[in-house]
Formats: sequence, structure tokens, C-alpha cells
Amino acid sequence: MINSAYPLLRPLLFSMDPEKAHDFSLSMMRKLQDSPFRFLLKQPMVEDPFELFGLTFPNRVGLAAGLDKNGAYIDALGALGFGFIEVGTVTPLAQPGNDKPRMFRLPESEAIINRMGFNNDGVDQLVENVKQSHYSGVLGINIGKNKNTPEEKAVDDYMIGMEKVYPYADYITVNISSPNTPGLRDLQFGEVLDHLLQSIKQKQQSLAKQHNKHVAVLVKIAPDLADNEIEQVADSFVSHKIDGIIATNTTLSREKVKGQAYADETGGLSGKPLVDDSTLVLAKLNEALKGQVPTIGVGGIYNGDSALNKIKAGASLVQIYSCFIYQGPALISEVAKTLKQYR
Ligand SMILES: Cc1cc2nc3c(=O)[nH]c(=O)nc-3n(C[C@H](O)[C@H](O)[C@H](O)COP(=O)(O)O)c2cc1C
Repeated sequence: MINSAYPLLRPLLFSMDPEKAHDFSLSMMRKLQDSPFRFLLKQPMVEDPFELFGLTFPNRVGLAAGLDKNGAYIDALGALGFGFIEVGTVTPLAQPGNDKPRMFRLPESEAIINRMGFNNDGVDQLVENVKQSHYSGVLGINIGKNKNTPEEKAVDDYMIGMEKVYPYADYITVNISSPNTPGLRDLQFGEVLDHLLQSIKQKQQSLAKQHNKHVAVLVKIAPDLADNEIEQVADSFVSHKIDGIIATNTTLSREKVKGQAYADETGGLSGKPLVDDSTLVLAKLNEALKGQVPTIGVGGIYNGDSALNKIKAGASLVQIYSCFIYQGPALISEVAKTLKQYR
């Protein structure tokens, strides 16, 4: 039902301010999910089971982080046929994020520019929301640092995040690639990265003992990395035995959207114009990793083939966000069905 209704709802949603449309549609979906009419939301799951990180993914198409920052809509999103859902980015303390407006549509190219700045209700609220949810699928929780935490203390924020979400996550994503938290992307380089990865691994080992379960820890990287930087991060991920990598976050580049309305807004660009660069970074990363660390491909997926290109570039799984906003839930099954043909 929601599949066929989305093209009709879209003009209404797109007549609203982007962030208002986002909040409105998610809260309507939650209302529907909590009502006897929840069958209207439910989409059939494309069955294409895939084993990774000791987990079984019912299909290989996930929801990328940032759409449900607080894990407040897990049950509604879980009804749409995603093979997995990633919530967050969540920070240790609640924070408001940047001033509004901070999300912009570039409809000509199915793109979004955002500078949300990790607006979220804090990790304790997210954990509460996860506890309340009835979703039984694969759940990733994406963690970040508070804006006010000095860069030299960034690792402490990730340690707090890991400790709090570990019992409730199927996997944890360490986000060091959002462009909207000053200094965050510097964590991707050199000794700072090594120190972070070492701390993550130690924390993971102690939490695994404490909770008697191994939860995979993934790192999410930016698309704006030079070739030598991709090789360096790959070496660090391999040597620290990181469980997986998510490539990529949004880009700072405006090359593909020059001249379009809002193209010069500060923030990260996502959606169709990101797809080629993001898939190229993924391919280079996988080449450098030599199959030693699995990857999840995200960035600009707009149809089955663009997702398949990520699998061909070495990704085990994919995630979608921006073009899901433009096309609705039909994109989930389209991508999942295409990937099912290719093993
Ligand atoms: C409005 C918005 C908010 C986002 N917030 C987050 C976030 O909190 N954490 C994160 O890791 N990625 C975040 N992302 C990035 C997405 O997860 C994804 O990596 C990126 O948008 C590329 O995929 P896409 O082109 O399919 O959107 C956000 C993206 C958008 C559009």
C-alpha cells in the first residue's frame, strides 16, 4: 500500500520544508505502525539471506544512518522490507545540532545537502527507544562525538557510545566522516586514527567478555579521500582487525551540482550526484583491503544497477538514504530484487 501511495504523497511532502517533511512523514508512519492499520505500511521482504558478522541479513539492502537519529521509528522503518536498519548518529549527550534550515533538496538531481550537525536526544534516550521497539531484524547503531567535546577527548565519546549501545546493537558503526562536526573527519588520518582504532578494539574485547557476545564494530569513512589516504586507512583497518567498513558518507564536493539551487549551501551532499565518486572510493578501498575486511557500500544508490555496481566493487551489503526519500519504499524492493539475481 505505502509503495503505491508514495508517488501521491510525494508532492505534498515536497511542498513542505525538507526537515518538516522528514519529521512529518516519520511520525505519520509511526502512528500507522502503532494503529490497527499497520498492514498499510508493511512491505513484503525480498528474501535473499546473507551471512556476515555472524548475523543473518534477510536481504542486502539496509537503511543508512541519519534518517532515524534517535531510534524513534524503528518499528515503522522495520516494516518496509529493509534487510537491516542503522540508527544514529547518536552522541553521549543530547545536542540540538546546527541552526535551521540545515537540510536542502536538489530535486533536479535527486540530491540532498545537509548540515544537521548530529542533532539527537543523546545515547540514553536512543537505548530507551531501542528497548521499547519490537523490531527483530538486524539493527546497527551509529555513534559519534558531541560538538563540545574537544578533539583530543573524541575517543572518550566513542568509548561512552560503545559501552552504552553494545548490549542492544547487532553491529556498531563508528562515524568519523560527517562533515558537519568540526574536526571529526581528522580522526580518519595517521596516529589519531590508529589511537582511535586501538581504543575501539580494546573496548570491544572487554565488552565482549562482559556481555558474553561479540558485536561487530564498523567504521564509516568519507568519500573525499585521496588515493594514498584510502590506502593508509585500509592498512590501519586491516592491522587493527576492524570488523567492517561503511563507504561512504556525504561529500563536500559540488562538482556535479554546480549552478543548481542550494548547491552552494554548506554541508554534505548525498544522492545521485554522489554515486560514481562514492563507488570509486569503495572500489579502491576494497582493492587496498584485499578482501581482508568486508565493506558496506552506500552513496547515491538510485536503482538496482547502481547498487549492483557497489557489490561488483566489492561491497557485501548496501545502504540507501537520499533516493529512498525521493522514490519511497519501492526503491528497497527494486534494489533487493536486483541484488538477489547476482550472487
Ligand atoms: C539528512 C541526512 C542526515 C544524515 N545523517 C547522518 C548521520 O547522522 N550519520 C551518518 O553516519 N550518516 C549520515 N548521513 C549520511 C548517510 O547515511 C549516507 O552515508 C549518505 O547520505 C550517502 O548515501 P545516500 O546518497 O544514499 O544518501 C546523513 C545523510 C542525510 C541526507
